[in-house]
Amino acid sequence: MPMKNPSPMTAPTFALRKGGEPLVVLTAYDFLTAQLFDQCGVDCLLVGDSLGVVVQGKGTTVEVTMDQMVYHTSLVSRASKHALVVGDLPFLSYHTETASAVRNAGRLIQEGGAGAVKLEGGVRVRAQIEAIVSAQIPVMGHVGLTPQSIKRFGRYRVQRDEQLILDDARAIEEAGAFSIVIESVPASLAAKITAAVSIPTIGIGAGPSCDGQVLVWQDALGLLVDFDPKFVKRFADVHGEMKRGVEAYCREVRTRSFPDEDHSYR
Ligand code: KIV
Repeated sequence: MPMKNPSPMTAPTFALRKGGEPLVVLTAYDFLTAQLFDQCGVDCLLVGDSLGVVVQGKGTTVEVTMDQMVYHTSLVSRASKHALVVGDLPFLSYHTETASAVRNAGRLIQEGGAGAVKLEGGVRVRAQIEAIVSAQIPVMGHVGLTPQSIKRFGRYRVQRDEQLILDDARAIEEAGAFSIVIESVPASLAAKITAAVSIPTIGIGAGPSCDGQVLVWQDALGLLVDFDPKFVKRFADVHGEMKRGVEAYCREVRTRSFPDEDHSYR
């Protein structure tokens, strides 16, 4: 498989891509998929707490624990030769005080091998971002629809409070973060934020003007088929391909056509 990204991506080289070739970010949660995505030239592998939904089968991300994030981040870091690995700080791992925010961010770097961490919120987590950055850990912010706030939001929906989201993005930049995820906001607002900040914006459901795009891989590659929001485009049919494969396996085992001579030791 061709290597499209010859040198490893770091938070500073990622940030330098502001306004340049769009940054490609994809989630990853395990070794083999991370290795494949890295070899395909993805710029950044985000070990998102979305794993609560797409790996653990839970309804939201809020049950994901720090230990689980460290574990999955370590699997992805082991696989990545080129992509920047960003580990997500889960719910309550940075909300209570800055000391635990720094300690938990440090775990994703030290035990998980990540190159950076991500956390949700803007103005309300400014002190935490400043403290983590002071500890020399690069931070990616996350504004707009922040899934860890689902109990307060009530449901997942497009976020339209322009001033609040702009203020959050500016607070994240001022606190020293190297990039910002913008989730589920009107494309015009994402364009405004992208123009207003000097760090790369990575959109998900935020239109074409961001400096990069991120998708959950199970959405992008069509493994998760009963979730079909407007912003997801399916670039492959992994669900269909796996289903065909498993059905063929079942059939061949039951008809004794597998294993045949070619797949048996003499
Ligand atoms: O948890 C996650 O995967 C994320 C992305 C969807 C941005 O936060």
